[in-house]
Amino acid sequence: MSKRVAVVTGGIGGLGTAICKALANAGRSVVAADLGSSPERIARFAHDVAGHDVRFAPLDVADFEACGAFVDEVQQRDGSLDILVNAAGITRDTTLRKMERAQWDAVLGINLDSVFNLCRHAVGGMVDRGFGRIVNISSVNGQTGQFGQTNYSAAKAGMHGFTMALAREVARKGVTVNSVSPGYCETALVAAIPDDIRQGIVDKVPAGRLGQPSEIARTVEFLSADDAGYITGANIPVNGGLYMGF
Ligand code: CAA
Repeated sequence: MSKRVAVVTGGIGGLGTAICKALANAGRSVVAADLGSSPERIARFAHDVAGHDVRFAPLDVADFEACGAFVDEVQQRDGSLDILVNAAGITRDTTLRKMERAQWDAVLGINLDSVFNLCRHAVGGMVDRGFGRIVNISSVNGQTGQFGQTNYSAAKAGMHGFTMALAREVARKGVTVNSVSPGYCETALVAAIPDDIRQGIVDKVPAGRLGQPSEIARTVEFLSADDAGYITGANIPVNGGLYMGF
C-alpha cells in the first residue's frame, strides 16, 4: 500500500510543526499548509522538519475557493488525501466590549470557517476511497470559555459541533472525525499572553506546567492511525487536568 497522505493546516505553527513530524514518523507523507509567511520562517520550518517526509504548501485556509484548488492539487500530485488535521488557529484576545468586528471575523474565519473549507472539499474523496481521518484541533477554552476570548471560545466550541455532526454523516464510510482540545502549550500563541496572566493560568493547571506540542501531536497520531477506526465524534482533552469532564 502506498503511504497515506496527510494535510496539516497551520502546519508551520507551534503545534502544526510537531504534528507534521509525528505523522511523518508514523509513515505518513505530510503536506504542511500555511500562509505564505516570511522566507525566514519557512526556512526555519524546513530546518525543523529536515529528514522527514514533509513539504510546505502555501494556503489561506479562510479562502473557500483556494482550499478547493489546494485539495485538488494534493489529490492529483500525491494520489489522495487520507488524513486532514485542522490546526490553523489565531487569537485576537480582548474583552467583548472592546472587540472590533474585524477581530471577530479574523478568528472565526481562520479557526472555524477553515474547518468547513477544508472538510467540504476533502471529505468526498475520503468517502469514495473508503478511508479518512479528520482531526480538528480545538481548545480547552472552547469547553470552558476564557476571559477575553469570546471570538476564540465561540470558534473552538463550534468545532466540536461540526466534528460530531460530520462524524455521523461519514461513520459508515470508513471516515472518522474527532477533535483534540489542547490546554496551554509552549507555543508562540501562549508566549504572547502577558507574563503575569500566563503564570496565573499555569498555577491552576493540576500538572503544574505548560503542555509540550509533542504531547498534542502524539494524540493526533493516535486518532489518525489506521486501527483507530472505532473512535469517532470524540473529543480528547490534552490539558494537564486544567478542565476535567466526562
Ligand atoms: N477573570 C476575571 N476578571 C479578569 C480577568 C480574568 N481572567 N482578567 C482580567 N480581569 C479583569 C481585570 O482585573 C479588570 O478589572 P477592573 O476593570 O475591575 O480593573 C477587567 O477585567 C479588565 O481587564 P483588562 O483591562 O486587563 O482587560 P484587557 O482588555 O486589557 O485585557 C485580555 C484582557 C487581553 C483578554 C487579558 O485578560 C488576557 O490576555 N487574558 C488571557 C487570555 C487568554 O488566556 N488567551 C489564551 C491565548 S492562548 C490560546 O488561546 C491557546 C489555547 O487554546 C489555550
